[in-house]
Amino acid sequence: MDSILVRGNGPVTGDIEIAGAKNACLTLMPATLLSEEPLTLTNAPRLSDIKTMTALLTSLGVEISGLQEGKVLTMSSHATPNPVADYEIVRKMRASNLVLGPLLARLGHAIVSLPGGCAIGARPMDLHTTALEALGAEIELKDGYLHAKTRGGLKGAVHKMRFPSVGATENFVMAATLAKGTSVLENAAREPEIVDLVACLKKMGAQIEGEGTDRIEIQGVDRLHGATHPVVTDRIELGTFMLAPAICGGEVTCLGGKLSLVESFVTKLNEAGIEVTETPRGLTVKRTGDRVKAVNVTTEPFPGFPTDLQAQMMALLCTATGTSVLEETIFENRFMHAPELIRMGAQIEVHGGHATVHGVERLKGAQVMATDLRASVSLILAGLAAEGETVVSRVYHLDRGYEFVEKKLSGIGAHIERIKA
Ligand code: EPZ
Repeated sequence: MDSILVRGNGPVTGDIEIAGAKNACLTLMPATLLSEEPLTLTNAPRLSDIKTMTALLTSLGVEISGLQEGKVLTMSSHATPNPVADYEIVRKMRASNLVLGPLLARLGHAIVSLPGGCAIGARPMDLHTTALEALGAEIELKDGYLHAKTRGGLKGAVHKMRFPSVGATENFVMAATLAKGTSVLENAAREPEIVDLVACLKKMGAQIEGEGTDRIEIQGVDRLHGATHPVVTDRIELGTFMLAPAICGGEVTCLGGKLSLVESFVTKLNEAGIEVTETPRGLTVKRTGDRVKAVNVTTEPFPGFPTDLQAQMMALLCTATGTSVLEETIFENRFMHAPELIRMGAQIEVHGGHATVHGVERLKGAQVMATDLRASVSLILAGLAAEGETVVSRVYHLDRGYEFVEKKLSGIGAHIERIKA
C-alpha cells in the first residue's frame, strides 16, 4: 500500500485544475443502462472509483471505452444488460447501488448486492427501496442481494422521502424517466450532481422539471436516446484545494471553480478570514491574516455545508485562533480523522456528532493513517502546514476521489511525494 510524504513548505501559490465530479460521474455512468444508444461523458475524472464503476457496468454487459486517458468515457448497453450486480464489486463502492433504478426501468428486474457498511456509517438502502417501491417495484432481500422486479413495468407515482438522500433521489429519477405516467419526488436532494444528472437525462430525451429544488417532477417516456455530456466540476475537490492556501498561506486559483457550487463553504471561509474571488478562470483564494479565525460548522444536505468537506475544514480549524465546534449531522461516524490529527498535535474532543477543536499555533508532522476518502486528504492538508514531515499511509482511500493529487499540489509549491509500497 502506497503512502504519501508531505513536508510543510510555507505558502502555496499558482493554479490548480479542478476535475469533473466523482459523485456526478458515478450517477451519470449507470444512466447508460436507460438507453440502447451510446452515452458519452467528457471531463470524466481519472479515479479508482470510476474504474470500479466501469468494472461493474462491464459485468452487466455494457461496452465502455476510455479515450483521452480516461477523460472521455463512451458507453453502450445496446445488448440487453445482465441484471446481476455482484457483491465482489458492489462491496468496494456503495455507489454501485445506482444501477438499481436504471436496471429496473430498462429490464423490469434487477438483482443488486447490498453494499454493506463502510467506515463512515451503516449506510442502509431503505430510502432507495421505498422510493422504487412507490413506482411499483417489488423488492425482496435474499442472501444479501436486493431482488427487484416489476409486473408490467414501473408506473409514475408521487413519493415523499423522509430524508433527502442523494443516491435515492438519483435512483428514483433515473427509474421514473421510463415509468408510465407522471412521477413526483418530494423532499428530493438538491445537490449539483443531481442537477447534472438531470441535464444529461434531458439530453437523452427525458422530461424532468424541478431539479435542484426539493420537488422533482418526471413525465415518463417510452425510450431514451444517446447523448454526449460534460461532467460538472467537482465541488468537493474544489473545496478541498481551496483549503491549501487557507491552511498554508499564499494565493491559489482553482481553475473552473464556481461560487455557486460552494456557497455555504465559502461563507465559512470568509468568516474564518479567507478571501475568495470569482474570476472567469475560477476561484482565487487568499488568506488575509497569518492565522485563520475559529468558526462553527454544521454539515447539512445541499445547499448547506457539505459533509464531504467536514474533515478538510477540521484540518484548517486545528490551526485557527480560538475554539471551533463541528457538528456532523449526515453520517454517524465521520470523525475518524480526529485521532490522526491529534497525533499531529491538534487539540480535538469528539463527543458523538460533535467535535470541539481548540486551535494551535502549528501542527507537527507525524506518521498518520488514512481511514476514508475525505479523511485522507484532510491529513494531507494538515501536513502541508505542519512543521516537519508527515507520512500518510493507506492512500488507496485518496486515489478513490482525487486524481493526480501529488502533481496538483506540487504545482502550487507544496512538498509532496508518493512512496510506492
Ligand atoms: C452521496 O452518498 C455521496 N456519494 C457521498 O459522498 C456524500 O457524503 C453523501 O451523498 C451525502 O452528501 C456519491 O454521490 C457517490 P445519502 P449517498 O443517501 O447517496 C442515510 C464521498 O466522500 N441513508 O444522501 O450514499 C445514510 O446512511 C461520498 O464522495 C439511509 O438511512 O448519501 C447517510 O447517513 C461519501 N437510508 C444519509 O442518509 C438510505 O437508503 C445520507 O446518505 C440512504 C441513505
